[in-house]
Amino acid sequence: MDIFRIEGPVRLSGQVTVNGSKNAALPIMAAAILAEGQSSLAGVPRLSDVRLFADLLQTLGCRVESAPGGPGPMRIDASVISNPVGDYEIVRKMRASICILGPLLARCGRAEVSMPGGCAIGDRPINLHVRGLRELGAEICLKNGYVIAEAPRGLRGASIFLGGSFGSTVLGTANVMMAATLAKGRTVIESAACEPEISDLANCLNAMGARISGIGSPRLVIEGVSHLHPVQYEVIPDRIEAGTFMVAAAITRGELKLVNCQLDDMMAVVDKLRNVGVTVEPTADGCVVAGTDHLHPTDVTTQPYPGFPTDLQAQLMALLALAEGNSVVIEKIFPDRFMHVAELNRMAADLRKEGPAVIVAGVKNLVAAPVMASDLRASAALVLAGLAAEGTTIINRVYHIDRGYERIEERLNPLGAQIFREDAPAP
Ligand code: EPU
Repeated sequence: MDIFRIEGPVRLSGQVTVNGSKNAALPIMAAAILAEGQSSLAGVPRLSDVRLFADLLQTLGCRVESAPGGPGPMRIDASVISNPVGDYEIVRKMRASICILGPLLARCGRAEVSMPGGCAIGDRPINLHVRGLRELGAEICLKNGYVIAEAPRGLRGASIFLGGSFGSTVLGTANVMMAATLAKGRTVIESAACEPEISDLANCLNAMGARISGIGSPRLVIEGVSHLHPVQYEVIPDRIEAGTFMVAAAITRGELKLVNCQLDDMMAVVDKLRNVGVTVEPTADGCVVAGTDHLHPTDVTTQPYPGFPTDLQAQLMALLALAEGNSVVIEKIFPDRFMHVAELNRMAADLRKEGPAVIVAGVKNLVAAPVMASDLRASAALVLAGLAAEGTTIINRVYHIDRGYERIEERLNPLGAQIFREDAPAP
């Protein structure tokens, strides 16, 4: 198992190009199931989650090729789906695997996908996915830990309300929208997720021959078609990776130029960073972000898009830990997503969890410590804290970071970071 040794504090400067979006790429890879033939996807990031998803598609019968380590497109040949089963061994490692359920059902009339369990960010139910697919006419039951969905005579369009107690569902919208593309008649999804990754998926599906309108709004209208064709498509840049780099500039009081960054998809993040005194200047294809010596505190609540994303909550908290005053961070999407709190406190932050909120009393300096990565974004927050902290930070279990950031040390070290990937000492 790898660890990171981070020497701090550093001040980052230079230019970094944002990679393609993980959370757009995974459902778009699943969409390839819907069309017989070979699709070609550009901008798919080379992450362990993407490799795992490619393995999953191969177990279904797809052929997946991507130039190893190179910038070429990923090719997914879904001519044959011989085994519409999402195996427990893969699904348990990656919850996003559930988004094969809708496309498999639409393409094969049947799908079995292992029920995903909870994870470090909390309970992760799929009741809304199931409800939406049932409304499209699927019969769904749970057997031996697998969701078994059947629609032998095909799916039919329906009006579906997809909101739950925590708002819309991103992958639930992806599943129902993908299934509805091949249903007979019109489907209306109300309270659909509006995340840019869902819009990207919808645009990709339309490029495959689907008829989806209302893209980007909470009301998606899908006119079913008889078949979809393979596609050549490029996924959008990763707004969460971009936001992480923005906080990296801010927390090190440095200055970074981000290239391939769609600032329009990040208004809540930009607004919050400006609020605390960080400068964000738009450029033609990204922005320049500069830190400040006097960070102001702020309050932030995570919300579905276009609100502040839960996937940047931990990273922003690391920054607010160094503000001149008290901030409050409220988590409205995953109320237990606070694994980073205790670890940041080990680095001399002053954070106090109160239910789904954290009170952040700003401190002057963070101090390096050995800490434990827990989930992807919490781990990113620890890397950011390590860049700013005085001394040597050791982060254990960095495989969590590799799930969503491609060799983050190789991206940040040319900008002035000192992050070293090393073997964990033998127990
Ligand atoms: N929810 C339900 N029922 C459902 C589905 C969700 O109650 O059937 C609840 C969840 O428990 C949560 C809220 O609805 O409280 C939102 O969950 P959502 O379904 O939107 O999350 P997701 O689709 O499983 C995606 C991202 C997550 C990101 C969330 C929220 C992917 C692969 N994952 O998950 O990304 O945090 O949306 O924006 O797109 C990450 O990249 O680190 C990550 C966790």
